[in-house]
Amino acid sequence: MKDKKVFPKGFYWGASTSAHQVEGGNINNWSQWEKENANRLAEEARNKWQDWQLKKFPEMLDSQNYISGKAADHYNRYEEDFDIAKKLGHNAHRFSIEWSRIEPEEGKFNEKEIEHYRKVIKSLKKRNIEPFVTLWHWTLPLWLKNKGGLKSKKIVEYFSRYTERVVNGLGDQVTFWITLNEPLVCTGHAYLRSDWPPQKFNPLTYITTSNNLIESHKKAFEIIKQINPKAQVGVARHNNYFEAYKGRLVNKAIKNIADWKWNLSFLNKIRDYQDFIGLNYYHHFRISCTFKKNKSEKVSNMDWKLYPKGIYKVLMQLKKYNIPIYVTESGLADRDDKNRSWYIKETVRSLEKAITAGVDLKGYFYWSLLDNFEWDKGFWPRFGLVEIDYESYKRKVRNSAKEYKKIIESSK
Ligand code: BGC
Repeated sequence: MKDKKVFPKGFYWGASTSAHQVEGGNINNWSQWEKENANRLAEEARNKWQDWQLKKFPEMLDSQNYISGKAADHYNRYEEDFDIAKKLGHNAHRFSIEWSRIEPEEGKFNEKEIEHYRKVIKSLKKRNIEPFVTLWHWTLPLWLKNKGGLKSKKIVEYFSRYTERVVNGLGDQVTFWITLNEPLVCTGHAYLRSDWPPQKFNPLTYITTSNNLIESHKKAFEIIKQINPKAQVGVARHNNYFEAYKGRLVNKAIKNIADWKWNLSFLNKIRDYQDFIGLNYYHHFRISCTFKKNKSEKVSNMDWKLYPKGIYKVLMQLKKYNIPIYVTESGLADRDDKNRSWYIKETVRSLEKAITAGVDLKGYFYWSLLDNFEWDKGFWPRFGLVEIDYESYKRKVRNSAKEYKKIIESSK
């Protein structure tokens, strides 16, 4: 780290989680899908993953790997987890509220669960950790799933009602709201790749559900602002660094389309309805007629090519929106913690470079605080700064978390 302080005063340093991936005990469209698909996913693993991955993570052949169950039991252990975050020097934490807990039946709200999240928020604030609260991180209550989920014509109304309840219950404690997490990743997996619930390939539905989410966000933005005009509201976007190989014209043209379609069109449509941009960064694609992942020799356990420097390019692309940016996710699956410290250091260096170049960056959240349930991959990919022993639920701080702490301290 350089001597000169680049990060602005009050910069938020922390890590993220999401309800379904860490809480445990959720009953929603995902938990139902997991039970229906666990055997299939375990059977398919042999052909889906490479030999080195199968050898290293034999649990991917076990159907239990694909059932979220107790997850990291964070629902019961959040105090302990926030103690760890505090010790690691974090001054902010991003987490999500589980819609199916708040509204388990249509129109019936569970005050006890609102109270639970109130306690979660208070427990963060007691430790001087600023909460960044996500309202929707992909899961849906079963009653809504049965009404067509994101396809439902009334989704905007449903999401508004849920938002209103949550913000009325918690809004006095929360400044930063993220309405939606990576909306297009969710609709893309559900209706284009059709590997996530409800697994229905239909490009038209991809478009309608994505539009439904845009409208849901806009409405939620207005509701939150009405309840608390000082609230800061945004969406967590999943943006990639698309690089045109050797600057060739055809590659540049494809890059421009990808930038516009994937990185920018959603943001353009909610332009007047956001106080900040949440950026989730994981991937670099080198475009040489087709989309190729870059050729970095460093890969994550999921075989994602690691290119932390790309975050600089992605941030520079977002500069033109002229609103603050928070990196709401960035991380890797790395069970043995071989590359995580390097990855975080490289990322932070790129953040410095972006700030120096004029990007209004105000926070960075590593994904994730804890090892967690990685959706259709299950438990084997380990993203956590903190390792979870899924038998005893003991927490063990990884070395990279301590390195991250040093970075936080030296940047103040
Ligand atoms: C999602 C997380 C996920 C992470 C790693 C992000 O796209 O928001 O839920 O665990 O990527 O795959």
